[in-house]
Amino acid sequence: MDNTEEQLINAHKAIGVIDSGVGGLTVVKEISKRLPHESIIYFGDTARMPYGPRSYAEVRGFVLEMIDFLQLQEIKILVVACNSATAAGLSYYQQACELPVLGVIEPGVRAALVQSNSGRIGVIGTVGTINSSEYVKALRSNNGSLHIVTQACPLFVLLVENNLIATPEAKKVAHEYLDPLVSENIDSLILGCTHYPLMTDLIQEVVGPSIKLINSAEEIAAEVESILNNSGMANPFEYGEPRHRFFVSGSPEPFEEVGSKLLQREIKAYQVHLRNFTLPAND
Ligand code: DGL
Repeated sequence: MDNTEEQLINAHKAIGVIDSGVGGLTVVKEISKRLPHESIIYFGDTARMPYGPRSYAEVRGFVLEMIDFLQLQEIKILVVACNSATAAGLSYYQQACELPVLGVIEPGVRAALVQSNSGRIGVIGTVGTINSSEYVKALRSNNGSLHIVTQACPLFVLLVENNLIATPEAKKVAHEYLDPLVSENIDSLILGCTHYPLMTDLIQEVVGPSIKLINSAEEIAAEVESILNNSGMANPFEYGEPRHRFFVSGSPEPFEEVGSKLLQREIKAYQVHLRNFTLPAND
C-alpha cells in the first residue's frame, strides 16, 4: 500500500473520544465545531463512573478496555477526554496503542498560561486528578513562579451526570468548593474535569465575572486538527457525511438526555458490555 492509499483509508476513520460519562461530550462539541466533516466515536463508561475516587490502576484498566473496543470500530486518533484518566496514566495508554493518543491536561495548562495575567491560577478537578498533582507539575514546569491553588470537587461530576446543576444544593456545594479559591485572588480557574464546562454558568456565578474559566476543549480540538493535517489523516470534504456514534456501558437514557441538551441535537446511545464487546440483543 502506498502512502496515498493509506492516507485515504485513514481519512475515513473516526476520531475516538472517551470519558467516564457525559463530560467528554464537551470535547466532542468543540471537535465537531472545528472539524465538522470528521466522524466521531464516543465511549462513556457510565456504568463505572465516577473515575475520580478510584485508584489509578483501576482507571487505567477501564481505559484499556474502552481503547480495545474503539480500536475495533476503526479510529485514527484517540482523545482521552477525561482528566482523571489522563492523570492516571496517559503515557501508559500511548504505549498500549499504536494511534496518536491525546490527553486533556497539557492543553488545559497551555490555555491557562495564555489567559492568566497575574500568574495566580486555580485548578479544580476530581480527587484523582488533584491528588496526582499533574496540573501543578505541568504548570510549574512552564513557570516556576506561579501561585497555584487546587481544590478537588468530587460532587460536581455527580451533579452533572444526574442533571442536578440547577438546584440550590448545587449552588451551596459550589460555594463550599470555590470560595476558598476566590479568596486566594486567582485570575483564572482551570476546569480540570471535562464534566465542569457543563456547569460553567453556576461556576462563573459563584466565582464572579472577573475570574476567567479555562476549558481545555478548544485547545484539544485545535491539537487534533493539527495532528490530522500534519499526518495526512484529515478527512477531506468530498468523503461524505460524518457519522457520530455514542456508546455507553450503563443505561443510555440519562446520557442521551444530558448529551442531547449539550450538543443541541437528539443523540442516540448504545449500551455495550465492555468485558466482551457484545451489543445487547435488542440493539
Ligand atoms: N470527566 C472526567 C474528568 O475529566 C471524569 C470524572 C469522574 O468520572 O470522576 O476527570
